[in-house]
Amino acid sequence: METQRVKRVTVIPGDGIGGEVMEQALLVMKQIELCYGHCFQTQTALAGGGALDALGIPLPPDTLDLCKQSHAVLLGAVGGPKWEDYPSELKPEKGILGLREALGLFANLRPALVYPILINASSLKPEVLRGVNLLIVRELTGGIYFGQPRGISKTNGEEIGINTEIYRASEIDRIARVAFETARKRQHKVTSVDKANVLESSQLWRRVVADVAEEFPDVSLNHMYVDNCAMQLIANPRQFDVIVTSNLFGDILSDEASMLTGSIGMLASASLGGQVGLFEPVHGSAPDIAGQDLANPIAMIASVAMMLQYSFGLHEEAEAIERAIISVLETGYRTPDLLEGGAHGVGTREMGSLIVQHLELAPGDD
Ligand code: IPM
Ligand code: MG
Repeated sequence: METQRVKRVTVIPGDGIGGEVMEQALLVMKQIELCYGHCFQTQTALAGGGALDALGIPLPPDTLDLCKQSHAVLLGAVGGPKWEDYPSELKPEKGILGLREALGLFANLRPALVYPILINASSLKPEVLRGVNLLIVRELTGGIYFGQPRGISKTNGEEIGINTEIYRASEIDRIARVAFETARKRQHKVTSVDKANVLESSQLWRRVVADVAEEFPDVSLNHMYVDNCAMQLIANPRQFDVIVTSNLFGDILSDEASMLTGSIGMLASASLGGQVGLFEPVHGSAPDIAGQDLANPIAMIASVAMMLQYSFGLHEEAEAIERAIISVLETGYRTPDLLEGGAHGVGTREMGSLIVQHLELAPGDD
């Protein structure tokens, strides 16, 4: 067993269930350290509602500095009803949006994999779900989330709200490349999702993606309108391998895709493209169940696996976490979001400990 150099990880638990799921993810990381002889140096930082309460801003400069000095960032979730009426610039969500922007994380990978053991946990029919394994590549630092002009103003005595969907060719080009390169390691198929029948930004999107595709003759490309894609994800999700799409469409489609897997509590994500990767569950802060040991920590734990894989190249360790998750589910344990007849209900903490135990049972063999 080789002791490797220290890996610095900034940990931002955030709001709502963020802290609870992060706690379990850190225990899993500790177990990986023990089993494989790594050294993760974690430092906790504030962002989101917690940062607003403590310091009056959603993304403190200290947090950003810490992230920039790290090798990777783990984030739980931000937001909650307490801060809902805050102005745009002071919403907890600005914490995460600001981080994505400042760290240059333009590529967000959101895998949706249907585990056979959870095939009955989804509201869809098993025969539709069997074998689903898709990856949403969401553009993360452009589009309507960041476009100018934006804001609410008064014109002729009436209030108007404005946001701008804007994509530069270079932004489309680089996210398309991520999609095609990733598809090369998968089923060699990219579906580009847009609204080119209505939006000019989508027309450019479609053209640039098609241009990039020419450099990847071994990967097939089809284009799909976003409304059709929303339907196809339910009607025939097996047709998809890699879906590449804009910031807003990716946000919406990834929540939809999570339901194929049984619960949004299962979906992890990696945000890449800058010096430092950021890893977070797709789910939000779920204030309604916060602090009650009810949240599913699997998405957060699977985000640790994605960090090991993408930021540290620790493929074996990442696979060990994924295997431990599957083996706990196969043993019949479920958090409330996935509970079905015959399963053994557990809370956040027990689910975390079970995954740690299963890692212990099958440690790395070198
Ligand atoms: C997500 C979330 C965020 C987003 C929010 C919290 C800003 O919904 O990561 O999917 O819209 O990107
Ligand atoms: Mg979302």
